[in-house]
Amino acid sequence: MCGIVGYVGREECTQILVDSLRRLEYRGYDSAGIAVFEEDKIKTVKAKGKINDGLVKKLKETEHLFATAGIGHTRWATHGEPSDINSHPIGNGRVSIVHNGIIENYRELKSFLISKGYGFESETDTETVAKLLDYYYDGNPLEAISKAMNDIEGAYALGIIFREHRNKIFAIRKESPLIVGKKDGESFIASDVTAILEYTHDYYLLEHNAIAILDENGIKFCDVRGDEIQKELQTATWDASAAQKGGYKHFMLKEIHEQPTAIRNTVSPRVKDGLPDFSECGLTEEKIKSYRNIYIVGCGSAMHAGLVGKALIERLARMPVSVDIASEFRYCEPLVTKDDLVVIISQSGETADTLAALKLSKRLGADTFAIVNVVGSSIAREADMVMYTNAGPEISVCSTKAYAVQVAFMYLFAFEIAFARGKLDETRCRELTEKLLEIPDAIKKCIENEAAYQFVASKIMNADSLLYIGRGLDYSLSMEGSLKLKEISYIHSEAYAAGELKHGTISLVTKDTPVIAIATQSALFEKTASNVKEVKSRGAKVIMICAEGTEVDSSSVDYKVELPAVDELLMPLTTVVPLQMIAYYTAVLRGNDVDMPRNLAKSVTVE
Ligand code: G6P
Repeated sequence: MCGIVGYVGREECTQILVDSLRRLEYRGYDSAGIAVFEEDKIKTVKAKGKINDGLVKKLKETEHLFATAGIGHTRWATHGEPSDINSHPIGNGRVSIVHNGIIENYRELKSFLISKGYGFESETDTETVAKLLDYYYDGNPLEAISKAMNDIEGAYALGIIFREHRNKIFAIRKESPLIVGKKDGESFIASDVTAILEYTHDYYLLEHNAIAILDENGIKFCDVRGDEIQKELQTATWDASAAQKGGYKHFMLKEIHEQPTAIRNTVSPRVKDGLPDFSECGLTEEKIKSYRNIYIVGCGSAMHAGLVGKALIERLARMPVSVDIASEFRYCEPLVTKDDLVVIISQSGETADTLAALKLSKRLGADTFAIVNVVGSSIAREADMVMYTNAGPEISVCSTKAYAVQVAFMYLFAFEIAFARGKLDETRCRELTEKLLEIPDAIKKCIENEAAYQFVASKIMNADSLLYIGRGLDYSLSMEGSLKLKEISYIHSEAYAAGELKHGTISLVTKDTPVIAIATQSALFEKTASNVKEVKSRGAKVIMICAEGTEVDSSSVDYKVELPAVDELLMPLTTVVPLQMIAYYTAVLRGNDVDMPRNLAKSVTVE
């Protein structure tokens, strides 16, 4: 939610700020803006809309700026509609800020500031921070920042500039992410490292309540008392090209194609001598044996990956697993105890509800294990144990490869738990692990079946509503397929357990309701096939996704999408490909902005 950048150096910074913001646009694209030092002034240009539609056009009309330091922002609106006035940077000419997060006590702060004679122009919570800094500022920026930090409640990452402190940026964070990039004679702030990979791979992680000061002499860190803090430089292993489209029309399509490699990078390093190996994170056999329950918590696609994990662990390790949506878990007084393991799944490692669920689990005494993509993210740093899904940066708002690697990870995790608890013998564990290592080839084959997905997309693109149905693992996949479709095509869809349809939802089925039936599990195939007949009898157009060679009753299925035959247990890893591709081509045919769907943002750092 919202992306922040900042630059201090020798180069003209407008283009650097705009280019860096473009790489953060996945965090929000309601408006964008920059504020730079120009002579003895702060010059601000900001506009409603995506960067190219608003900010870039406005910059072209603006008298040429020459500046070597400034801050920038791309917004996902929370307080106040998307508009020029509510865009960041926000300030008054003396101080200007960019903000990611939510100021929870902004109403109190606003009343206080109004009582001190301040007026407000925007509807944002951010403006209270800008005015508060101005109120406390009497020539000493650090003092003003410390005092303001003392008063502010909520989550924030802030980039701050003061007119009187030319070419200097101050940065602070609490909960919301912010990193500080370093290059010879240049320094950066950014919500995440992908924004600045083109310029540098070296960066510092900023701790809560620490202040970073960037100027022409370099970067300093201090605490709220002004005492200097020494920090260790990190190096990003991600390649700058990983955050570019590389010839694909959309990031989503590129990321779908990256799935075989991403899964290989996630699984292979965790297999030693043919068996899963979790020693890198400290999840020992003793610990695994000691857990009473496993809770898996996440949001969106990460939660859906957890559903596959639950089915696998329960089936292979015969141990109880609950899966919860993080925003529910944190407020439902969960029954978690010190005897439990809480697995937190998150691509970004910054999702506010997921982070809160992690903190709550720790307070309840459970061991916490994070499965995260972004190295050094808040969830990764907070959890007792962490393992990274090495998917590389995922830019498209609609998650594809991040989900695929989370699911692949769930397999390895389930094998490890089942093996450690003596429920899976070594031979079967080796066999399954080997099959998991081979799955990238089958995924590649699925991706190549593009014509089939384009055909299905052409059949559903004008529907008002769709159903995805399946049983067991196929039901979990239905949920992910339905989410992908609504997210980017804006067609309503619902995922339903196939056997549950007749308890109400089947009343929605007409000849205009396409039904995507997923039937990859032989033990449940006939059951799902009966449910397919039920919807077909009500006129539905049925698209079935099943393993190659499956015999399908052509009178109840209009179109069949076949998947390469792999071990049935592993079918979710291939099944997700047609679901992603059908959603993708449907969105393309409807002319939607696939990578930046309306109203969404990729990193959800607000509740
Ligand atoms: C957002 C994204 C989803 C993602 C969810 C959880 O809603 O659009 O694709 O699954 O957040 O994000 P996380 O980074 O925690 O996996």
